[in-house]
Amino acid sequence: MKKFFIQTFGCQMNVYDGWRIARMLEHRGLTQTDNVADADIIILNTCAVRAKATDKVFSALGRIRRAKKPNALFGIVGCVAREAGANAFRRIPELNFVLGPQSYHKLPEILDDPDSRLLDINLGGLEKFDSLPQLEKSPRIAYIPIQEGCNHCCTYCIVPYTRGREISRSFESVMHDTIHAAQTGAIEICFLGQNVNGYKHTDENGKLYRLSDLIRETAKIPEIMRIRFTSSYPTEMTDDLISMFATEPKLLPFLNMPIQSGSQNVLSRMNRPYTLELYCDIINKLKQARPDIQISSDFIVGFPGESDSDFDDTMKIAQKIKYINSYSFKYSPRPHTGAALMSDQIPENIKAERLAKLDAYLNEVQREFNISCIDKTLSCLLEGPDKTGKHLIYRTPYMQPCIVEYRENAPELTDIIITDANKACLRGKFKI
Ligand code: SAH
Ligand code: F3S
Repeated sequence: MKKFFIQTFGCQMNVYDGWRIARMLEHRGLTQTDNVADADIIILNTCAVRAKATDKVFSALGRIRRAKKPNALFGIVGCVAREAGANAFRRIPELNFVLGPQSYHKLPEILDDPDSRLLDINLGGLEKFDSLPQLEKSPRIAYIPIQEGCNHCCTYCIVPYTRGREISRSFESVMHDTIHAAQTGAIEICFLGQNVNGYKHTDENGKLYRLSDLIRETAKIPEIMRIRFTSSYPTEMTDDLISMFATEPKLLPFLNMPIQSGSQNVLSRMNRPYTLELYCDIINKLKQARPDIQISSDFIVGFPGESDSDFDDTMKIAQKIKYINSYSFKYSPRPHTGAALMSDQIPENIKAERLAKLDAYLNEVQREFNISCIDKTLSCLLEGPDKTGKHLIYRTPYMQPCIVEYRENAPELTDIIITDANKACLRGKFKI
């Protein structure tokens, strides 16, 4: 039996794509291996969002070239494939396939004709979703992509180039996948998209469906106990969506809504044309709808032209909102983006200093939030045993990992009393 090896880099969408590719190859009769030297087909599922991520892919390809079996097929899928295109073959002539994020369903073609070279970096829209084989069993948390691509065109971001313009799946096909996931084991649904709350689909009768409609409909499915979505653009947090946090208790009180910078100047040069006032108003509305809601963010430090005082503004907004579980990055110039051409690039050492300062603060807030959970009872979803097998890991409504003693036939969703916490995780005991 043939074996495949797959390694995924990058965002939640890539994790989902990697998982789908693995299931697609299993459907074709292959089995997964985590040993490159043993694999007949090797796939790197790549991320191009920062230069470091792209570099990692090419150094991994160099290693694989040396370690693989002589006639094993290897190639790249995802955003680096789209960015590098035919150049990838020039850099590594032995590559067998280069498939963009919307063409990976074509991967099995290479299995039929291993002597061919497969290049497809077209943005084929929704064809991929219709071509993938139906899944037999859903994991407890089912990730359901509802849209791809992004129209916002932040000046630093390569995603609109690699994943293309926004395109939403039909309400019907999303609900079909959601109901199927519920019937085959899902307890939690996470709707995915680069700009998930920009989801819009108009059916043949002219009826418009939005993310709030998907949430309302999904909440009616008895098997589904938790719903969330990621990642959201601030100004698309419309009132219909905010009201879901008040009316749908299954919607988790946790939202990723990246601000990127706390400086109005930087935001406008990033082409993120919202005011800090509007952003804070949205958070206030969310808190009115759901007082226990917590927000997480992405930050970029060292964007071209970011002054000390711009960076102080980012620290100030972080102190005001008290985000939990945020991600912060040093600005990385990317091809096909406007910011890479801006003249006032920030030196690496200043970026590193700012990142360290912001990270130290964000980590401290996260630790404080985790500690504030001690003695609370939280409804948690089972993830599985830890590495030692002596404990189980659950996920709280804020997606914090929570460790409890191992128990045979442990409940999938249950109340846990939090007994201890640090920055990284919580500890707890079953309420019953
Ligand atoms: N909405 C998208 C965000 C894509 S990129 C999603 O679904 O995940 C993820 C994060 O990477 C962004 O929010 C931003 O903070 C960061 N990022 C994007 N381009 C970057 C760049 N050129 N340099 C540094 N960080 C970047
Ligand atoms: Fe990128 Fe901005 Fe869209 S970060 S994915 S262009 S909202």
